[in-house]
Amino acid sequence: MSPSAEPLAPVTGVNGTSFPHKTASAKKVATSTTAEVKSDGISNIIDIRQASVEMNLRDEIVSQFCPKKGPRTLPTLLLYDEAGLQLFEEITYLEEYYLTNNEIDVLTAAATEIADRIPQDSMVIELGSGNLRKVNLLLQALEQSGKRVEYYALDLSLQELQRTLSQLPRYEHVHCFGLLGTYDDGREWLKTPAILHRQKCILTLGSSIGNFHRDNAADFLRGFADVLHPGDSILVGLDSCVDADKVYHAYNDKEGLTHRFVLNGLVNANRILGKETFNLADWRVIGEYVHDIDGGRHQAFYAPTREIEVLGQNIQPHERVQIEQSVKYSPAEADYLWRSAGMTESYKWQNDSKEHGTYWLTK
Ligand SMILES: C[S@@+](CC[C@H](N)C(=O)[O-])C[C@H]1O[C@@H](n2cnc3c(N)ncnc32)[C@H](O)[C@@H]1O
Repeated sequence: MSPSAEPLAPVTGVNGTSFPHKTASAKKVATSTTAEVKSDGISNIIDIRQASVEMNLRDEIVSQFCPKKGPRTLPTLLLYDEAGLQLFEEITYLEEYYLTNNEIDVLTAAATEIADRIPQDSMVIELGSGNLRKVNLLLQALEQSGKRVEYYALDLSLQELQRTLSQLPRYEHVHCFGLLGTYDDGREWLKTPAILHRQKCILTLGSSIGNFHRDNAADFLRGFADVLHPGDSILVGLDSCVDADKVYHAYNDKEGLTHRFVLNGLVNANRILGKETFNLADWRVIGEYVHDIDGGRHQAFYAPTREIEVLGQNIQPHERVQIEQSVKYSPAEADYLWRSAGMTESYKWQNDSKEHGTYWLTK
């Protein structure tokens, strides 16, 4: 019933509690020892990183910003360092950011039904867990069902995993862990023999899947579907809003919080590159909603306000560098996505406006 992990060195969490983690230099996937749930109810964090995210990101910043052909882009992952995750949490409380409240409405109504579908002794793995207040609705329902389950919050920042896990209530039946790593690390970790045979429900909430291009979203889901067995499931939260104005304002709020969140990606890029490659005074954020032959989506870009030179490249004023997209899925597009990923939609829960769907997928 216990997961596998390497021994972890203690670090101090936000509330002074000791948390276990591997040292920063440790690279190998955690595979062998037992992770223990601490008696105070605060969970262990397992370092599943196979390679340094920052080293990969350094190469990707350069290759995407200086492409051999095609438009300049920057990796979306730059948005999710510790500061970025905290800004994103603030965004989820904005009135304009309708996605979170829609999903909360659905999870509040459906949590018991979803919990009923998750078998005893399952691993519930949340990919890109961020703030845990939404998933906590499901954890509460699981606790009330009396089922013994293990919940794993997977995300990129140790500090944020510590902080968010420490805010969860103390559950008797639901044992909570953190997984420090990327989606790819998570998929590889799930293939380890001690884990492969276990019953699993994989969660991806907050329309995180919308950050992928449509084809890549299918590849992402299929990658996880491949480690599932019959009876396992994937629960996906997806935004379907097609109201152009509403979507635009969700990502371009009047307080400018989302633009600050996006600009923090350049701060993170400077940190990873080890020097001030991007002078923030030169850059602004542009958001736009597009609905074309590829469907609806919001796109976020950086653009310089003047001609500048960055990484040996001459950049013209207003040249756009895409950092993020948030793809919206109509019911037909969602259906196509599941089929492309080799999954079957067994059930879905929607909010009253039908803007949000939480989908129960099986193989
Ligand atoms: C749009 S936010 C959603 C957060 C949360 N699930 C919610 O519903 O509010 C995306 C989350 O996925 C994480 N994330 C993005 N790309 C990731 C990757 N490649 N590997 C691991 N986590 C990732 C981010 O750090 C962030 O917490």
